[in-house]
Amino acid sequence: MIPTKPKNSIMQLLERYNQDTRTDKLNLTVGVYTDESGCCPILDSVRDAEYYRVSNQTHKASFHLAGAPEFHQAVRKVLFSSTGNSLEDHVEVIQTIGCSGALYLAGQLIKYYAPTSSIWLSSPTWENHTALLNSNVDHIRHYRYQPANQEELCIDTMLEDLQFAQPGDFVLLHACCHNPTGMDPNLAGWRMLAEFCAERELIPLFDFAYQGFAHSIEQDAEFLVPFSERLDTFMVCNSFSKNMGIYDERTGALTLVFKDETKRADWHKTVKGLIRNTYSMPPVHGSFIVSHIINDPVRFSRWEQELTGMCNDLHRRRGAFFSELDRIGIADQVLSYRKQQGMFVCLNLSEEKIGLLRDAYGVYLLDTGRMCIASLSTANMPRFCEILTKVI
Ligand code: LMR
Repeated sequence: MIPTKPKNSIMQLLERYNQDTRTDKLNLTVGVYTDESGCCPILDSVRDAEYYRVSNQTHKASFHLAGAPEFHQAVRKVLFSSTGNSLEDHVEVIQTIGCSGALYLAGQLIKYYAPTSSIWLSSPTWENHTALLNSNVDHIRHYRYQPANQEELCIDTMLEDLQFAQPGDFVLLHACCHNPTGMDPNLAGWRMLAEFCAERELIPLFDFAYQGFAHSIEQDAEFLVPFSERLDTFMVCNSFSKNMGIYDERTGALTLVFKDETKRADWHKTVKGLIRNTYSMPPVHGSFIVSHIINDPVRFSRWEQELTGMCNDLHRRRGAFFSELDRIGIADQVLSYRKQQGMFVCLNLSEEKIGLLRDAYGVYLLDTGRMCIASLSTANMPRFCEILTKVI
């Protein structure tokens, strides 16, 4: 069964945007960082890694079903630098086709090993989660993901819904920069969630697509500390698409953290079988870029600086956008909460008004009200706010 999609999916809207002939059209759909000139920059650290690879590679015959050991080392470094060596012996990293590929493989593993378990998703969540995780939507459940006030996520509401989860169920949690709301638990909230999952024997599955866009590579991974202390089993799906700006290389990883060695080896063997039976093995170019940068301290810190630049720019743009909404007096109408991070802002607009933005003004955002703040330039901001005023 092919799971149903929203009426206007991200990719459909992107196609419509591309076909729109208006010169003042505005694309705020897909989550991609563009600079003030509207370009998605290629980072200097990435360019250098690519140049190095093209100049130095001696063959194109790599055969690693789960990716190269150097890539695994890089993933371990970005995920577990805060948890110290405590997980060292309990982890298997598998290179995947972006974070989507990691989610897909996690869904297949869950179907194989836990066919009766449910997967709990936040409501709202990224539109592709259901489809990627499990074609059998009977096992997809939802927990509410709501603000307590303008500044805080309501963990109690999440737990109220998750109390109906059964031992062995999986809970998908957005590690940072929640897509679409931009609202994340603080460290105390993560501790509560880790405690809850441990007590109820729930298995966390983290979608970590935006590492480095909330604070920094290291700080954004701190949520893993309470989970690694309290849980024996969890999985992380991460991506380098956004934080390295290598969207088209499709480079991500599925990381299995299983303290039970037999189980970990078994799941690892199965996932390698799944890879072999579908796309055979992952491409190498993106994973080379990742390991070349992350495994070298100098290149790593240069990349971190570039990422910090993008992250600060997002905070600046969000701040400027909210100030402009305040200035023109519509902030309370369109914003439910303000302490957001990452690439998205969710606006309180009806589907009808979002359709009007698209049809009358050539402004494209998702039907849910999600707009990509990472694609809104300072130059476009006043015009966008003015159009918003007209529409509401
Ligand atoms: C998004 O939510 O816009 C990104 O994750 C890109 C995608 O593939 O949907």
